Amino acid sequence: MSAPAQSFGLRAALTSALQWWDDAGIDTPPVPPAPRARRAPPKPLDPAKLALSKQPLKAGPSAAQVSAAADADREKLLAAAKAVAGSAPTLEALYKVITDFDAADLSVNARAAVIARGNAGSGVMFIGEAPGKDEDMAGKPFVGKAGQLLDRMLAAIGLDEQSAYITNVCNWRPVNGRAPGEDELALARPFITRHIELAAPKVIVLVGGTSLEVLTGQKGITKLRGQWQDYNAGEAAIPAMPLYHPAFLLRRPELKAEAWRDLLAIKARIEGAE
Ligand code: URA
Repeated sequence: MSAPAQSFGLRAALTSALQWWDDAGIDTPPVPPAPRARRAPPKPLDPAKLALSKQPLKAGPSAAQVSAAADADREKLLAAAKAVAGSAPTLEALYKVITDFDAADLSVNARAAVIARGNAGSGVMFIGEAPGKDEDMAGKPFVGKAGQLLDRMLAAIGLDEQSAYITNVCNWRPVNGRAPGEDELALARPFITRHIELAAPKVIVLVGGTSLEVLTGQKGITKLRGQWQDYNAGEAAIPAMPLYHPAFLLRRPELKAEAWRDLLAIKARIEGAE
C-alpha cells in the first residue's frame, strides 16, 4: 500500500471514530489505559488439586428433574393457598390473606391483589375473570371500560354497589394482561371458593367464560348464557347465571340484546330470592 493511500485510510478511520464519539455525546477522547502491573509468574500447579480435577464432572439436573422440582413447587404453593384461604374465618380475614399471599409468577407483575367492590352482604355476587391494567392500578375490580359497561348493565336492572358485590375468579393481573392460565386458575380457585362461602350470595352471576368454567366446570359461554347453572357450594347449590363478559360485549355490541334478556332473568331471580 502506498503512503498517501495509507494516510487517507488513517484519516478516514479517525474521522469516523470522532463522528461516533460525537453521535454518542462523548466530548472527551478516551484516556489511554494506565499501564498494568506486571503479573507475578504463575505458581507451580499443586499435584493434589490436579488429582481433584481428574474426578468426573458432576452432571447438572436433568430436564425431568427440573420439571419435577417445578411441579413440587407448584404443589407446595397450591397447598399453601388452600390452607390460608380455607382458614380465613371472615371476609376481612380473607382479604388480608389474599393481600399477603405471594402468588409467585401470578403476582409478580401485579401491583397488588385486586379483591372486590360493592356490598358483600347484598346476596348477589358478580364474578369476572381477572383484573386488567386499570383494575391493577386502582386496586378494585371492573373499573376500566368493561367495568363501566358492567355498571351500566347493573344499573339497567336497578343494581349498584349497595345492592351487588363484584369480584373476580383471579385476584391478580396476569403477566402482560393475558388471560389467566390453567395453573393460575388452579391457584386462584381456593380463594374464590372461600370468598363465595363467606359472602354466601343467594345468586351468582358468572361474568364470562372463565368464570363459568372455573366455577361450574362447564365450557361455552355462548351456548350456556341465559341458562341457570348450579354452583356447588358444599351441601347447597347456589343458582348461577352465565352472562356475556362486558369486554366481549364491547367487541360484539349486537349481542347486548341477549345479555339484556339474561339480566332480566337475573333481576327476576333476585326479586324472587328476596
Ligand atoms: N375483566 C374482568 O374479568 N375483571 C375485571 O376486573 C376487569 C376486566
